[in-house]
Amino acid sequence: MEFVIITIFPEFVEQVFKWGILRRAVEAGKVSYRLVDPREFTADRHKSIDDVAYGGRPGMVMMCEPIFKAMEVLEAQDALKESRRFIHLTPTGRLLNWEIAEDLASNDQLILLAGRYEGIDQRVIDTFADDEVSIGDYVLSGGELAAMVLVDAIARFIPEVVGNEQSVTQDSFSTGLLDHPHYTRPASFNGMEVPEVLLSGNHAEIEKWRRQQAEQLTRLRRPDLWERHISGKSDGNGKRSGGK
Ligand code: ADE
Repeated sequence: MEFVIITIFPEFVEQVFKWGILRRAVEAGKVSYRLVDPREFTADRHKSIDDVAYGGRPGMVMMCEPIFKAMEVLEAQDALKESRRFIHLTPTGRLLNWEIAEDLASNDQLILLAGRYEGIDQRVIDTFADDEVSIGDYVLSGGELAAMVLVDAIARFIPEVVGNEQSVTQDSFSTGLLDHPHYTRPASFNGMEVPEVLLSGNHAEIEKWRRQQAEQLTRLRRPDLWERHISGKSDGNGKRSGGK
């Protein structure tokens, strides 16, 4: 899987590939990345990438030309893969969830466009974007952090990126439920005890406890997920939500 990230802050976005699981995935050749800075494709000596909005509104809009040029250059370098998706990160996109992340992980290449300012000239989106994704109902000062979140969430679904495959299938959401609480040694700490059942060695009872905890947490914190889980309904993406 190759991530191509179009951003005016490439050094910032690169950090997501420099730590932990993603760093190991890059070193092992499971993930690669390319950072494309629209400023390198500007025509004027100020390297302008934004301009005032038509119709008059405060704030600047990222211009078409540098991004079209960047895409042209990628094409000319034969850097665009057959199995690819171009995603614009924006608060007006569809809300990211694990199903979207899993689905995007099946591509060979993802091109992520991180905008700044008030937005990006719509003609860029109309021409290139296959999808628009938001990471939550709040406005960030740019799409960079959203692109980094997307990279991290997607990378977990790439085979062999997460060491223990089971930890992905048991993650919150993949089961349709939130995750249960976790404990490690010591069994007693500052008067707080690890639940007895986890020390019992009885795997059936442990599983039952974890399931109950996950269900209780989901019911309390995420009634929306709980409803979906108990009704066993499709989530609209053609996938069942629970009981996997
Ligand atoms: N850019 C600014 N805010 C964003 C958000 N919430 N999700 C994705 N991209 C964004």
